[in-house]
Amino acid sequence: MSANIVIGTQWGDEGKGKVIDILASRADVVVRAQGGNNAGHTVVSGGETYKLHLIPSGILYKDTLCLIGAGVVLDPKDILGEIDDLSARGISFDNLKIDPRAHIIMPWHIALDGLSEKFRGNKDIGTTHRGIGPTYMDKYERSGLRFYDLVHPEIFREKARSAGELKNAVITKVFGGASLDIDGIIEEYIGYGQRLAKYMDDVSVLTYEAAKAGKTILFEGAQATLLDIDFGTYPYVTSSHPLSAGVCTGTGVGPMLIDGIYGVAKAYTTRVGKGPFPTELEDETGDYIRNRGGEFGTITGRPRRTGWFDSVIVRHAVRVNGLSCLVINKLDTLAGLDTLKVCVAYKRPDGTIIKDFPPTLEGLEGCEPVYEEHPGFSDDISGAHSFDEFPQVAKDYIARLEELCECPIKMVGVGPDRSQIIER
Ligand code: GDP
Ligand code: IMO
Ligand code: MG
Repeated sequence: MSANIVIGTQWGDEGKGKVIDILASRADVVVRAQGGNNAGHTVVSGGETYKLHLIPSGILYKDTLCLIGAGVVLDPKDILGEIDDLSARGISFDNLKIDPRAHIIMPWHIALDGLSEKFRGNKDIGTTHRGIGPTYMDKYERSGLRFYDLVHPEIFREKARSAGELKNAVITKVFGGASLDIDGIIEEYIGYGQRLAKYMDDVSVLTYEAAKAGKTILFEGAQATLLDIDFGTYPYVTSSHPLSAGVCTGTGVGPMLIDGIYGVAKAYTTRVGKGPFPTELEDETGDYIRNRGGEFGTITGRPRRTGWFDSVIVRHAVRVNGLSCLVINKLDTLAGLDTLKVCVAYKRPDGTIIKDFPPTLEGLEGCEPVYEEHPGFSDDISGAHSFDEFPQVAKDYIARLEELCECPIKMVGVGPDRSQIIER
């Protein structure tokens, strides 16, 4: 048996979905432990593209058990839409299970996400407007609604009414927003609960039992290290723990169960939403990478900000996640650039050089990336089947990233399809 975690090392969209899908061909169980439908994980197989939000990326294998753990926030309407769309494409949900402890995203969370972003004005975070932050706020305030409540109408009616009435007061009296029809919402959501009830099961027990039975388990990280609520670029982060440690609290298993942690990075860097981005390229090279890499958000369609590979960030991810290895995706996207720059350190305004990612925005302010330059490659590598087929400069680039990040690079992505991965 083995249990491995797949984590994002940058600001998300590193191709975690693709890596999970590839590793899932050898896995019995795939588990989501945190985040919600702010995630957009793309899997491309046999010419078909699947964009998954909450459903674990193991779902394309019909015998794989797909689990949604206690640490996830669940939008019932959205997940039912996802189930309906994928069912229409022949995907089976017989093996989907959702933990009763998972918190429910309600329409007032979505409304409050939008209203607080608007209130922040030009200091907005650039959230996905999916209600993620407000739902985690209620969870930690101990006033949230859980999946168990949703599938029990009497419990749900009572809890949702008092929660909804309070939120309505905040929406209308604090933000001047439109009042929600709480009774209508409650009855609508009871209907969703009835449809989802059959999926309820204790994910902590299922995962533990699978491990004891010698099954192969994969934990699918959503979001990424620099979006972690503590170790990311706070406050420009999400409201959960996308780190490897979040997998244990979000599933209900101990750290000794884990055998390995894969960190996924792109061969460059992207970010959606606001917040610092030291290696950002706001020029033609940035546009080239965006257009060639199709860097537009899976969830919101927003153009992703693009920049050079930043080894300060990925080294931070190696440390805070305890990564065993790295996967570098989208090397193919860099083809055609004369020079590839890699950030090796930051230079502070006072001239000092730092190699560890600063803990605060204030510490990051004014930091300039220190670059080293590498020759680019023009060859199309998307059809390569082995590392040996890469041009020498591409091999050297990967070898240098490995050295700078202080972590072995085990796989390199050369295209979106399942088959376009090179094991090293
Ligand atoms: P995730 O959120 O980490 O699962 O990543 P997304 O699915 O949001 O974004 C990654 C995008 O890159 C998707 O469109 C993938 O199909 C695509 N992709 C993944 N790996 C590669 C690769 O190696 N090369 C190319 N060209 N595209 C890739
Ligand atoms: P995957 O799993 C990229 C970003 C949002 C915003 C910030 C907070 O596909 O890599 P939120 O709605 O979570 O409160 O927004 O986090 N964000 C992501 N960026 N990939 C994601 O997920 C993201 N999930 C959230 O853009 O900047
Ligand atoms: Mg994504």
